[in-house]
Amino acid sequence: MQPLPSKSAPVSICADPVADLNELIEKISPDKVFLLTDEHTQRLCRPLLEGVKGITKEQSITIAAGDHHKDTEALASVWQLLSDQGASRHSLLINLGGGMPCDLGGFAAATYKRGIPFINLPTTLLAMVDASVGGKTGINFNGFKNEIGAFRIADMVLIHTPFLKTLDRENLLSGYAEMIKHALIDRPQTLEKLLGIDPAAISVNLLADLVADSVMVKDRYVEADPLEQGIRKALNLGHTIGHAFESLAMKKGRPVLHGYAVAWGIIPEIRLAVSKMKLPKLLADKTSKYISDLYEDHGFSITDFDELFSLMQHDKKNRGDRINFTLLTQVGEPAIDINCTKDEIKAAIFG
Ligand code: GLY
Repeated sequence: MQPLPSKSAPVSICADPVADLNELIEKISPDKVFLLTDEHTQRLCRPLLEGVKGITKEQSITIAAGDHHKDTEALASVWQLLSDQGASRHSLLINLGGGMPCDLGGFAAATYKRGIPFINLPTTLLAMVDASVGGKTGINFNGFKNEIGAFRIADMVLIHTPFLKTLDRENLLSGYAEMIKHALIDRPQTLEKLLGIDPAAISVNLLADLVADSVMVKDRYVEADPLEQGIRKALNLGHTIGHAFESLAMKKGRPVLHGYAVAWGIIPEIRLAVSKMKLPKLLADKTSKYISDLYEDHGFSITDFDELFSLMQHDKKNRGDRINFTLLTQVGEPAIDINCTKDEIKAAIFG
């Protein structure tokens, strides 16, 4: 285990998941150990945990994969297993998977008996740089993303970058969108570095270094504002419009990967920043072009706008009819709670 100098929560780069989990289990000393996987990580990643002490077949649960299954039914099945198998407040839950198992498993752990310890072992790029760190846990509800949830920091996040070799191009790109977002709120140099790369074409070692840097950007914002009362909202860059794209795509029965929706959301939110906050156009255009080339088009048309807007109104980060954005004044200088009108948003997306 090689701890990152993170301040908001314990995060370690992990070369040997079995050895590291056994070390953590000895330290935490749980009465029982539970494992949550989804059907993909059960098949592709679970075999690598052979030898972790205390994980039995009875104390393992596999849920259906995909963000559209991040729901009350899957959550209840985790609570059910914990309860049936006699989990106590001193039991440990290990979440092995991408954003979905980390979010849902984290919420199950946050709520079962008012909270049990949990470890995230993220297997996707998205989960390594974002979902597994920072303490946001939850599920989707009533057609809205992450509608029900809680803040609860994992007892440890173990980042084992060889898992990245199991990912297809779309999943690598999905995680990379969050890394671009982190670069936009970090420094111009970080952004320039990322914009020169096709993440699916570089070595896992290079990607691993970028992952560690990206986690540290997030850590800085989470440490400053763990409960998202202020500056942590910078991490929502691209998400106000991105979540609306994601929810509408889900509603239309053609779900998209979270990072694609975020990438599509970053482009209009950069446009808003150029027009309202005087974000310099050159780097904004370069970023938008890079994203459009890599992530193609969102495929929504202007006739979808009213529905997208109403999804934005429902976003839990807004109050009443005001749609609040995180907008950049410069790369590395996010301004939060910037109100934009319906017309401004429409022009930014479809103008
Ligand atoms: N994914 C944004 C945050 O954790 O605040």
